[in-house]
Amino acid sequence: MSTTYYKRYRMEFDFRKATVPDPQLPDGYDWVPWQKALGLVHARVKYECFQSELDSHVFASLRDLAGCERLMGDIVAHEGFIRQATWLVRFSGNEFHGPVMCATIQGLRSNRWVGSIQNVGVIPEHRGLGLGKALVLQALEGFRSAGLHRVALEVTAANKPAVELYRRLGFHHVSTNYREVTTPGAVRELAGAS
Ligand SMILES: CC(C)(COP(=O)(O)OP(=O)(O)OC[C@H]1O[C@@H](n2cnc3c(N)ncnc32)[C@H](O)[C@@H]1OP(=O)(O)O)[C@@H](O)C(=O)NCCC(=O)NCCS
Repeated sequence: MSTTYYKRYRMEFDFRKATVPDPQLPDGYDWVPWQKALGLVHARVKYECFQSELDSHVFASLRDLAGCERLMGDIVAHEGFIRQATWLVRFSGNEFHGPVMCATIQGLRSNRWVGSIQNVGVIPEHRGLGLGKALVLQALEGFRSAGLHRVALEVTAANKPAVELYRRLGFHHVSTNYREVTTPGAVRELAGAS
């Protein structure tokens, strides 16, 4: 067995200290609000976003479609599930292929005043266009409308695109922890120690 310790940052956004700009989607993309029938769609998009990414090593549930379906089921069944912070982005299609769901985010209430962002993801072909930024802003507006004061998330420190995305939007680092992941193998190492 080998054990890896993944460095994780907790970051927070405080509505009382920062404003939330309007989210802007590029041409050809639109918002799909939460409805129950979309649970498996969120799970599939989540899987497509995370299957080849660092976080699929950190969280077993992100490694396969069945895990993403269970995770999505848990999120939706959570008593703090916030539907207005839960969104898909749809690409309208082009001459090469038809419409496709290409990005996902979900939100939960952790306590009276604090929400938490779950698993923001954009599938690889649609990255770098501003969808990640727009998704987080759209979810923040949902948290704000639910009456929350702060929104928290955890991000693997070595996940530079995600850390940079949150920092640019006004999230601040509040604490660091290490997630222990044990897998078959022989090496003991420290990951994400940037
Ligand atoms: C993180 C992720 C959601 C970003 O989505 P995206 O649509 O490509 O991001 P955007 O185009 O909206 O970029 C917004 C900002 O993020 C940062 N960013 C995005 N990609 C980056 C990269 N490869 N390197 C550094 N910064 C990056 C930049 O600050 C960027 O702002 P800029 O374009 O003004 O420089 C996407 O890479 C992803 O789905 N990753 C896999 C899943 C994952 O790890 N999710 C995070 C879990 S905590």
